[in-house]
Amino acid sequence: MLGTIKTEIETLIGEIQTIHLIEEQGCTSEVRRVTTQKGTYMIKTAFMDRYRKWLQKEAKVLQVLNGKAIPVPRYNGFIEESHRNHLLMSFENGNTLTMALKTATSTTEKSRLIRSFGLFLNKFHETPPIESLKWYQDWLDEQLNQAQIYVEKGQTDGTIELLNKLMANKPLPVKQTMIHGDCTTDNVLVLDGKVQRFIDVAGMAVGDPRYDVSLAIGHFSDNPLHLKAFYDGYTRYKVTEREYQYFNDGLYEFF
Ligand SMILES: Nc1ncnc2c1ncn2[C@@H]1O[C@H](COP(=O)(O)OP(=O)(O)OP(=O)(O)O)[C@@H](O)[C@H]1O
Ligand SMILES: [Mg+2]
Repeated sequence: MLGTIKTEIETLIGEIQTIHLIEEQGCTSEVRRVTTQKGTYMIKTAFMDRYRKWLQKEAKVLQVLNGKAIPVPRYNGFIEESHRNHLLMSFENGNTLTMALKTATSTTEKSRLIRSFGLFLNKFHETPPIESLKWYQDWLDEQLNQAQIYVEKGQTDGTIELLNKLMANKPLPVKQTMIHGDCTTDNVLVLDGKVQRFIDVAGMAVGDPRYDVSLAIGHFSDNPLHLKAFYDGYTRYKVTEREYQYFNDGLYEFF
C-alpha cells in the first residue's frame, strides 16, 4: 500500500514490522496501525481534496500541541503525494466512546462513561487558549464563510437556505475557549472506563464551546438520564434548545 513512500515513513518512525487497516474506520480517511521496533503508530490517509486539507490541518494542530498538556496523539510526520496525504501519529489505546457505549452492559456503566465525557470536556474548555490556534476573525464567522465555500462548490449536504438562516440568526457571543471542533462520541477515546483523549483534531481551535457541547450531546440528546450524566460532569454551561439546534442541526450540516 505504501509504495514509494515506505522509506520516507521508515525514516520517521523506524523499520515497519506490521501494518494493518484497523477495524473501526472513519468516513473520510483510511487508518492503519503500524508497528516498528520503536513503537506503535497510526497512519491516517486521505484521498479527496477536501479531506486532504482537513488532514493537513490535523497535522498542523498536532504539531502545535506536541509537548503541551492537551491529551491528543503525538505527531510524527506528514507526507504529501500527488493523489493522497498521510498523517503519522502515535497509536493510542482505547475505544471510541461510541463503541464503549455500544458495548456497555448496564445503564450505570453508560452513565459513568457519559459523565466522564462531560468532565473531560469541561476541563478542556477551561484550559488556557493556545495563541496559535486562534483565528484572525471570529470563529463562528470563519465557519460560516467556510460553509458558504462548501455550498458554492457543492461539497456539502447543507443548503443555501439553511446557511442564510444561520447567518441571520447568530447566537449572542460567549467567551471563546479551546474547542475540539468535531466533538462527537466518535472522536474521543475511552481507556479504563473514562474518556481520556481526543482524536480527529483538525477542527481544534479557539472557538465557541457551545459547538462542542451540542455535538457532544448529539448522540443522546433525547435521553434525559444521559443528558443529566453529561451535565453532572460538564458543569460550566448548559446549551439551550435554540443553541443546540443552531449548532448541531444547523452549522454541523455543513461539515
Ligand atoms: N491516534 C490514534 N490512535 C488509535 N486509534 C485511532 C487514532 N486515530 C484514529 N483512530 C481510530 O481510527 C478511527 C478513525 O479515525 P478518525 O476519526 O481520525 O478518522 P476520520 O476518517 O476523520 O473519521 P470521521 O471523518 O468519520 O470522523 C477512529 O474511530 C479510531 O478508532
Ligand atoms: Mg472521526
